[in-house]
Amino acid sequence: MSDLKLVVASRTALTPSVVRVVLRDPRGGVLPGYEPGAHLTLSTPGGHRRSYSLVEPGGGGPREYVVCVRGEPDGRGGSASMHTAAEGTVLAATPPRNRFPLLPARRYLFIAGGIGITPIRSMVARLRADGHPAVRVLYLSRSASDTPFLEEFAADTVHHSEERGRLDLWPHLAVPDDDTRVYCCGPLPLIRAVQERTAHWRPSRVHVEEFAAPDDGYAGPFEAVWAPTGLRVEVPAHRSLLAALRREGIEVDSSCEAGTCGTCRVSVLAGEVDHRDVVLEETERATSMMACVSRAASKEITVGPA
Ligand code: FES
Repeated sequence: MSDLKLVVASRTALTPSVVRVVLRDPRGGVLPGYEPGAHLTLSTPGGHRRSYSLVEPGGGGPREYVVCVRGEPDGRGGSASMHTAAEGTVLAATPPRNRFPLLPARRYLFIAGGIGITPIRSMVARLRADGHPAVRVLYLSRSASDTPFLEEFAADTVHHSEERGRLDLWPHLAVPDDDTRVYCCGPLPLIRAVQERTAHWRPSRVHVEEFAAPDDGYAGPFEAVWAPTGLRVEVPAHRSLLAALRREGIEVDSSCEAGTCGTCRVSVLAGEVDHRDVVLEETERATSMMACVSRAASKEITVGPA
């Protein structure tokens, strides 16, 4: 499906650092539908491409998309650009994609860290609207004053680290349960903590999404050498290594394209890697990388089949 044109219908501050942005079809038309967990990749007014989860529960024929953007003072400008997007600004966006789908379960445990609440809010809203009887939420944030949607989760466990330090996740995850699905979205350390504490769970019960995982490769350009043939492949800033290899006819399998499934692994024979996945063990990082999200930290990198 080709890119959409979306107009910024409104932008409002939810907290000092989070804005809610409503996007609509410029002619008021119906937009492609989506399910909870879906995201849009937008070209921001500053020209960055950024992915944002849709925070409403979705469904067919929506008239608007709603995303929430946290300002990142040390970021590369994409979120700052969205924070100042004027009403009426037209942005290009991909249609919604969903790499974090809500699957059926008898019980759910949602763990959200910071702005990672956005896809989880859409899932929880859908389940509660449907009357699902067993939905638990752990919402972790730094401070109450900078926690969007706080009132909606008043009956859940909301934990502010500035007041009480880090929440001990172990009591919530110690007993594995095949009837429970665990969904976690947040920064990488939280995802790692959940993965470590669910290592004894059935893997299909645990679903994670790093909110900052860039799925279109947002970093400096570099050159990759495909070891089996010696072919040199340019990887521009806006393209992933996976996409760049495929453009040259090099087949690399993929699935999630978000650094979470492990399918697109390639071996690294030379060069430094900026690892952005959540699947490789530390010991594997010296010799492997995930081509969908990770990039070279050096000017050139030599890779080959896993
Ligand atoms: S396709 Fe899933 S980690 Fe790259």
